[in-house]
Amino acid sequence: MKSLVIPPSKTLQGRLIPPGDKSISHRAVMFGALAEGNSSFSHFLEAEDCLHTMQAFQAMGVLMDYEKGKGKITIHGVGLQGLKRPSAEINLGNSGTSMRLLLGILAGQKLEVVLSGDPSLSKRPMKRVTQPLKKMGAQIKGSADANFSPLTIRGGNLRAIEYDNVLASAQVKSAILLAGLQAEGTTRVIEKLPSRDHTERFLYACGAEFKKEGNVLHIEKTERLKAVSGEIPGDMSAAAFFIVGAAMAPGSSLEVENVCLNPTRTGFLNVLKRMGAFLEIHMTQELPEPMGTIRVEGRRLNGTRVAPEEIPSLIDELPILMIAMALAEGESLVSGAQELRVKESDRIQSMVQNLKAVGANAEELADGCLIRGVSHFQGSRIQTHWDHRTAMSFSIASLMTQGDMIIDDVTCVATSFPSFFEEFERLKKNR
Ligand code: S3P
Repeated sequence: MKSLVIPPSKTLQGRLIPPGDKSISHRAVMFGALAEGNSSFSHFLEAEDCLHTMQAFQAMGVLMDYEKGKGKITIHGVGLQGLKRPSAEINLGNSGTSMRLLLGILAGQKLEVVLSGDPSLSKRPMKRVTQPLKKMGAQIKGSADANFSPLTIRGGNLRAIEYDNVLASAQVKSAILLAGLQAEGTTRVIEKLPSRDHTERFLYACGAEFKKEGNVLHIEKTERLKAVSGEIPGDMSAAAFFIVGAAMAPGSSLEVENVCLNPTRTGFLNVLKRMGAFLEIHMTQELPEPMGTIRVEGRRLNGTRVAPEEIPSLIDELPILMIAMALAEGESLVSGAQELRVKESDRIQSMVQNLKAVGANAEELADGCLIRGVSHFQGSRIQTHWDHRTAMSFSIASLMTQGDMIIDDVTCVATSFPSFFEEFERLKKNR
């Protein structure tokens, strides 16, 4: 644990190139490992979560060329049948994406592998993935009916299923698609609400037997995946801390470049616009992932309502949006966000508890929160519960705080955005 005292500042000024997208970086390593030939990516996210995915595949015999600090990675793919049994259990640290997607891949592999994680990951529900994978034929053991890691998985001989993705979870959808890639028959995933579609984009690009018809995804057993290469766009979920910070702090002026503008990830921009934020968005690339530039200017925002159908497109941005709501004029309501309770921490509870500590009017609801805006926060000690997004949200809140913000632990930020405090120091100004 390393605490940090953040003195108040007033605005954000300048340009930001956000680090590589976390969701896409995980998938780049996974698809690169399963493809035939070499896949090379630039702007790969060198954060702990993605390094855990890399190490997992290295432990299963996949060679990678990676120079620390350069964001460049080449994965020497071993094909869909080439993974080897690791010599020890694979520890995935804090990374839920690594664990859930890896379970989908391993469900099709005739290997026995033990997956574990840190205390936070060990408390996160895995049954949402292990139950459908068991139905497909994988053998998975772990406590509470394979709901919690460590999990022991032995895959192979999978059969297709039809799965209704009621949680609107991209991790669950991806795990089933990755298993479906290795299963006899056509696996179908039905999505009532769209969730991030990076796995689908990789499946298309790698030539998998995959198609999307309306809200139904179809995948068939695929013999080989072709290697793909490219630049990983900037992470919208990382950029969001600075975008929301600049939008809510009057006098700020920020330009964010090369950020992923995939519509399954940009829901919080619509919410900010409804709150009256000044945003200019320019798309510079459409495929394989939309990417572009966002210009933000700061002003006092108004309260808004976030509806359940918007949640999947802004799930990781809710903590920082809750900060903006707590400083906006009027009332805000978030509903249908019960999934926040099973993230790296219970984010409804921890955000509301910390918001109250800084003098905001916030109330917990079973599936969200009710917030009435104040004009500024008071400095307080923030309990992050080892959650990177809580730590970054309250660091940004210091822009609108009288007194020091004390973050109890900032080491957790390294899971997704190791250069966050460096960028914050560079961009924040006292005017
Ligand atoms: C992710 C999906 C989301 C998100 C997580 C990354 C992914 O989780 O919260 O940070 O890369 O697929 P859920 O699918 O559980 O909603």
